[in-house]
Amino acid sequence: MNQADAGIRQHIDLVLEAIAAQVVDTNRDPFDINVMHRTACDLIAFYERYWGLSDLSGYSRVIAGCADLAESLACTALMLRYKRQFDAAVSVLDIAYELAPTCLHYLTLKADILREKGAIDAARAVCEQVREIDPNLSELPLVLSQCDVGEQLGPFEEYYTLLQIAHRVRRPSVYLEIGVSSGKSLALAGAETVAIGIDPVTAVPGNLVFVSPENSPKLFRMTSDQFFESADPRAVMGQAYFDMAFIDGLHLFEQVLRDLINLEKYADPDSIVFIHDCLPVNAFIAERVRQSVFWIGDVWKIIPCLKEMRPDLEIVTFPAQPSGLALIRNFDPSSTVLERHFDSIVEHYRQTCLPDHREAVFNLLNVQATTETVFFTSKIALRYGTMETVRCCSETPRSTL
Ligand SMILES: C[S@@+](CC[C@H](N)C(=O)[O-])C[C@H]1O[C@@H](n2cnc3c(N)ncnc32)[C@H](O)[C@@H]1O
Repeated sequence: MNQADAGIRQHIDLVLEAIAAQVVDTNRDPFDINVMHRTACDLIAFYERYWGLSDLSGYSRVIAGCADLAESLACTALMLRYKRQFDAAVSVLDIAYELAPTCLHYLTLKADILREKGAIDAARAVCEQVREIDPNLSELPLVLSQCDVGEQLGPFEEYYTLLQIAHRVRRPSVYLEIGVSSGKSLALAGAETVAIGIDPVTAVPGNLVFVSPENSPKLFRMTSDQFFESADPRAVMGQAYFDMAFIDGLHLFEQVLRDLINLEKYADPDSIVFIHDCLPVNAFIAERVRQSVFWIGDVWKIIPCLKEMRPDLEIVTFPAQPSGLALIRNFDPSSTVLERHFDSIVEHYRQTCLPDHREAVFNLLNVQATTETVFFTSKIALRYGTMETVRCCSETPRSTL
């Protein structure tokens, strides 16, 4: 075990201890407790999947730390889910629900696991069962939207996988992320990268649930607008341009447009920008007003906008789960067209609606419906630099070391 791995095991221990200390409070809502356990299991699964750390004792600690049998069974189901043993997970949840029939979130979790397994009709049937008991259960819209994701984007990778490939292939010297949340996407950055995270709520050192075993990011607790106004991005980056950026902050079209305009000033011809949430699976999650936990707003409008206003940009949207990942490149820092027409662009696109048909949506959003990660890799490879960096993709991944 190297020093970085030891450090990350210590970090996982600390997060699990913090969660364990909170879930012992018996006055807590059982749903909140289960959400904390989901975070714990997600954390362990993240390091197994993306950083190849195995033999983590975390799952058994989470399961053993539960205050009652039903919740420890629910945690066992979470572990089985991450190990892709979906049928066993569903059976265990059935017993948990029998023991605690008021815990409807065990049913919604079962629906979500069925959805992940690909049994979408069965997942919808469980949602229907829940709706009959409590039509207003707040988790229901989330799970139902995830069923839409399963139907429309089921065969495609999740966006974290694509971002991880991008980090491995490009090995960016500077990676800038707008919208950090718990740090999961930022935690994919490798040792060679100056990683910069901007978030007005969570970007505080020591605050993130997910951290990279190899990288300590520079964090800015402020909005992206404040960052570009008040920080000196070149000084922060330590060079004149970024290699890779990820826009995943405020999910409104005008903000994403502003983020892109600001980023382009620090781009070079090889810089790539990913934009999350460019492919809504239904109109409900794409409303400008947030109505559910799973909300992506009208970010998608950035694609038709750039196609129209900036035909010089290369734009492709990958149907990554759960809400698409767009890749923009071929930037021109001297271009001012978006900035000059900002108000009229925003006004124009405020009226634009998402087409009804999937084919029309895919056309409008430049979706490349391929499951071939080779295609993705070809799109992110350096074009103007040397190929040295690109060869890194054939290196042995850490997970098989
Ligand atoms: C969807 S989460 C980011 C998830 C993260 N990138 C990941 O994939 O793991 C969105 C985050 O954007 C942050 N945010 C909201 N408005 C923002 C703004 N104007 N500038 C930067 N971040 C913002 C929120 O606080 C929230 O943590």
